[in-house]
Amino acid sequence: MTLGELSDEALHSRVQQLLAEYVEFIDDDRLEQWADLFVERAVYRVVPRENADRGLPAAAIDCDSRGMLVDRVVSLRQANIYGVHYHRLLLSNLRITARNETEARAQCNYAVLQTRSTGETSIYNAGKYLDRIVAERQYVHGNWKLYAENTRDPYHASLLHLFHTTFGTYRSSQKGGVTLDAEHRHSLLQVSSDSNDAQKDHEIYKDMRIFDAQFRLQNPTLLAARREFDDGVTLVILSVFPNLIVQQIANTLAVRQIVPSGPDAFELVWTSFGYADDDADMQRIRLKHGNLIGPTGLTSMEDGEAVEIVQRAVASDDGQPSFIAMGGGRGGDAEHLVTESSIIGFWEYYRTVVDFEPARPR
Ligand SMILES: [Fe+2]
Repeated sequence: MTLGELSDEALHSRVQQLLAEYVEFIDDDRLEQWADLFVERAVYRVVPRENADRGLPAAAIDCDSRGMLVDRVVSLRQANIYGVHYHRLLLSNLRITARNETEARAQCNYAVLQTRSTGETSIYNAGKYLDRIVAERQYVHGNWKLYAENTRDPYHASLLHLFHTTFGTYRSSQKGGVTLDAEHRHSLLQVSSDSNDAQKDHEIYKDMRIFDAQFRLQNPTLLAARREFDDGVTLVILSVFPNLIVQQIANTLAVRQIVPSGPDAFELVWTSFGYADDDADMQRIRLKHGNLIGPTGLTSMEDGEAVEIVQRAVASDDGQPSFIAMGGGRGGDAEHLVTESSIIGFWEYYRTVVDFEPARPR
């Protein structure tokens, strides 16, 4: 259910629940979890009343990303020196002041009680929260076709994704390939991680940042998978022209929809699913793999970032053709993973749909 579909009462209750969690994380010194409540591009400002009333911008704390909040927590844990004290935060008068499809504005009063090691409790601070609450979506600031290329590109995963290469879930040296339909609209990429050759792979990747043989997970169950079919295929990306991707990576099953919102932005809508007869363990495995390749997965974030980097590079040459070729050639099938034939196939078909001649590389 999206934020816009909630009734006023349901929205109020959800916001109340969110704020209760927020307060609990602070009161119980679970500040790492507190920082996780903010979206990546969050704004966190503590403005003195004198400045707020006069519209003056200076703030006691002025953070413009979740990263800055995480830095504050790390600093508090490792660098700052302060006397032992405990906090209790009290909230009241919650009111939703505005709402639309994707966000809600809320305000409430707060008071912070501080208890020091002497046992003395005092009111440390009081004021008003003005919150902007969003349902987090995966927005990417790039043209949607860059993402269509990404899912058709078997080569990038091994260069970009440390998790894939290091833990062997995907390497260009694996057995796999791409298959296109007759018109090169759709692409099926499939890989078998059974074909890993640890010694050979170490030789190939030993000088690369994305392969770190020393890298270990604190909790290896993130990668624990269960074999579902006997075909040895461990990764399938089916890209259906123009904007649908069907995925099976390890035990994740998901559909991704690319929804363009302009020439330089799109949203990725993810729908994860399982089978009705999945046992509890399998459901847990599928949910856990979402941390690797879900909307905020450890590798999915890299794809979004890569698209944005390419977008910035391409947009800076406005009006000029940008062309990077691995080997050139034409669209078609391949029985290995070092190919761009699927991307070329996409553009061959796209060209016929929009009826334009390709820019000639110079
Ligand atoms: Fe990727």
